[in-house]
Amino acid sequence: MRVLRGRLLRWAGSPFEIGDAALAWEEDGAVAIEAGRISAAGPADAVIAAAPEAPVSRTAHIIAPGFVDCHLHYPQTGILASWGATLIDWLNRYTFPEEAGFADRSRAEATARAFFAETLRNGTTATASFATIHAHSVDAYFEEAARRGVAAIGGRVMMDRNAPETLRDTAERAHDESAALIARWHGRGRALYAISPRFAPTSSEAQLEAAGALSAAHPGCLVQTHLSETEAEIAWVRELFPWAADYLAVYDRFGLTGPASVFGHAIHLEARERARLAEAGAAVAHCPTSNLFLGSGACDVAGLAAEGVRMGLASDIGGGPGFSMLATMRAAYEIGQLRGTALTPAALWWLATAGSAAALRLDGELGDLVPGSAADLVLLDPEATPVLAARCDRAESPSELLFALIMLGDDRAVAETWAAGRPVHRR
Ligand code: GUN
Ligand code: ZN
Repeated sequence: MRVLRGRLLRWAGSPFEIGDAALAWEEDGAVAIEAGRISAAGPADAVIAAAPEAPVSRTAHIIAPGFVDCHLHYPQTGILASWGATLIDWLNRYTFPEEAGFADRSRAEATARAFFAETLRNGTTATASFATIHAHSVDAYFEEAARRGVAAIGGRVMMDRNAPETLRDTAERAHDESAALIARWHGRGRALYAISPRFAPTSSEAQLEAAGALSAAHPGCLVQTHLSETEAEIAWVRELFPWAADYLAVYDRFGLTGPASVFGHAIHLEARERARLAEAGAAVAHCPTSNLFLGSGACDVAGLAAEGVRMGLASDIGGGPGFSMLATMRAAYEIGQLRGTALTPAALWWLATAGSAAALRLDGELGDLVPGSAADLVLLDPEATPVLAARCDRAESPSELLFALIMLGDDRAVAETWAAGRPVHRR
C-alpha cells in the first residue's frame, strides 16, 4: 500500500446531470493504492489516518483519473497529419494503403510500441482501438498494452467490400477470426474485445449479420463502428442499403445497436436516430479533433447528452491529428462554441474520463478515483509552461484551473502517468 497526496480530481456525478457539483475537488487530497487499485480517495487527513502505516508521497501536481480515449485506430499512428482530404478520399488515399502494410506483423508491433509510448506520454491510460483486418494486428496491440500494464479494448476490423483487395475478408473469415481473437483476448489481463465492423459501407449485409451473431454470442464484448460522420458517407449508405430508413437502421437490422455499441462520430443524425440511440442505451464517441481535421461537421454533444445518449470523448487517431486528450477537450469546447452550446470545463473533463469509461461500460473501473477502481492516474503540472503557469496562477476556482489546462496544456503538462498503481511515464 502507498499513498499519493496532492490536489485531487474526482467525480460526484455527471456534469450533464448535476452541473459543476459533479466536480469533487480536494485541494489537499490523497489516494491510497494497493495491488494496482485505489483503496481510498478523498481528503488527505482521512485517507492517511485510515492507512497510518503506508508511505506517503507528496506531489505539487493535480492527481486525476487517467484519460480514456474511447475511439481510435492505432494502425493509423503513422499517417497522422495527412493533408487535404475528406473522409472517403482520406480512407482511400492514406488509411487503406497504411493498413495494408500491417500484413507485415513486425510493422504492427512497431506501430503498437510507438502508439502506447504516445498515449502514455499524453496521460491516456485506456484506449478503445480498431486494429486492421489482420489478426496479428490485434495480438500486437494487446501484447504491447499488457507489457505496459494498461487497459486496452480493441478488435479486428471486419470489411468485405469497398476496400482494396488485400484489405477485404469475407463474412465467414471475419466471423471466425474474430471469434478466435475473442477466445484468446477477451478478459485476459486488462484486455477486452470489441467486435469491429469498420462501418456499413465496407461490410456486406452477410458480414453485418455475422457481426450481429458474434455480438449475440458474446454479450460481454463491445461493438464499435462508425455512424453518420459525413454527408457523403450517409448518401453512400442510402445507396448501398436502399431499404434502410436511415443510417442507424442498418445497424439496427443486424442487431448492432444496443448497450454494447459505441458509435464513432454520430454528427448528422435524424430525429429517429437520436431517439433510437437513447432508447437502445448505445454510446457515442465524440471525436472533435477528427471532425475538424477531416471537415466532417459539428456533433451536437449537449443535445445528445440531454436526450439521454451516453457520450464519451475520443481522438479518432489518425482522423484526429494528435494523441492529446487535452487538445481533444479543447476541440470539443470549440465545436460547442460554434454550435452555441459551450461545454463547461467539468463537462469536457468528465467526457475525457468518466464519460468515456461509461461509454465503454467500464464505469467503476476506469475514469474516476473511487475505491475498487484501477489505479490509472495522470499527474498534471499547471506550471509546465510559462503561459500555463501564469494563467493557472490567476485561476480562482478548480473549474478555471481545469479550463486553463484544457486550452493551454499539452503533453508538457503531463508530469506522470500511472497504470495499475505503477508509474509508466515520467516527463
Ligand atoms: N469511417 C470508416 N473508417 C474510418 C476511419 O478509419 N476513420 C474515420 N475517421 N472514419 C472512418
Ligand atoms: Zn474512427
